Amino acid sequence: MKAIYTLGIESSCDETSVAIVKNGREILSNVIDTQIPIHEKYGGVVPEIASRNHIEAISRVTKKALEEAKLTWEQIDAITPTYGPGLVGALLVGLSYAKALSFAINKPLVGVNHIQGHIAANYITYKELEPPFLCVMMSGGNTQIIYVKDYTEFEVLGKTRDDAIGEAFDKVARVVGLGYPGGPKVDRLAKEGEPTIDLPKTHFENLDFSFSGIKTAVLNLYHKHPEMSKADLCASFEKTVSEILIENVTKAIQQTGIKTIVLAGGVSASPYIRKAFADLEKKQIKIYMPDLALCTDNAAMIASAGYYNYIQGKRDTLDLNAIPNLKL
Ligand code: KG4
Repeated sequence: MKAIYTLGIESSCDETSVAIVKNGREILSNVIDTQIPIHEKYGGVVPEIASRNHIEAISRVTKKALEEAKLTWEQIDAITPTYGPGLVGALLVGLSYAKALSFAINKPLVGVNHIQGHIAANYITYKELEPPFLCVMMSGGNTQIIYVKDYTEFEVLGKTRDDAIGEAFDKVARVVGLGYPGGPKVDRLAKEGEPTIDLPKTHFENLDFSFSGIKTAVLNLYHKHPEMSKADLCASFEKTVSEILIENVTKAIQQTGIKTIVLAGGVSASPYIRKAFADLEKKQIKIYMPDLALCTDNAAMIASAGYYNYIQGKRDTLDLNAIPNLKL
């Protein structure tokens, strides 16, 4: 059977990335131009600066992705950009470029939901993984438990009512003076501390999450007791958010009877959280987690999700718009 090559374009936040993936599972190229050093000095992503840098990077990154894949434009089957959720100006750069490319080389345009892309990172990491499964989505913008019924069919079973888990990591890092992006920095410092500090957990009847309480508790504690060990605070934060995740996932397993759990999103790169989930394997629960390089934003995962949209027959027109709060 003829191979299908999808060209993914990702520009929803601070990474300009273009990738070419074969049959949804094999990366031929995955070029990532990160803007982290540019935004670091502001302590977070500045949307206008992100958009401008996407504009500067997008042609160069696309050319490189095609070269590294050793393909010609003719061999590409579909252009699959992220069209939401994300920063609207940033999304528009990748999406407009994708539309122009689709028109110029006369190949179909197939939009991808960024969250669907994070899930698909696992199809690249595990060639045998197939739905159905439960996905724990933990990124900078989203925290959800998703019932993945099929490659393009999803049901959100629970979601955060306030902050995303990644936002909480970033905020904790900022409060204790670690800078942006907070996740990896909190991880590093937590390793040097002990989880001795009690932090609050918010529980709901259903599978929803809340991370604003724990974020505010860390903030207040640190402001009241600036002498306290930052490492202990980070370790306690990581332990508590891991427990919140595991408690909710355990509830979801009980409710659905599904025992295959797939992690996704930037926070799934946290070694502490990976270990907490890996421990569930002792309870006969199968855990999948993406390769570290595929946890944070990249276009390979978008090209993979784009492949599944493409083979399901999804096609978009040049009217496709960026949707900053796009839902699954
Ligand atoms: O999935 P992602 O790259 O972007 C979105 O789609 O939102 O997630 C970014 C988030 C940031 O909040 C960042 O601090 C967090 O993922 N993150 C981590 C780690 N690496 C990135 N959090 C904890 N541990 C990490 N190693």
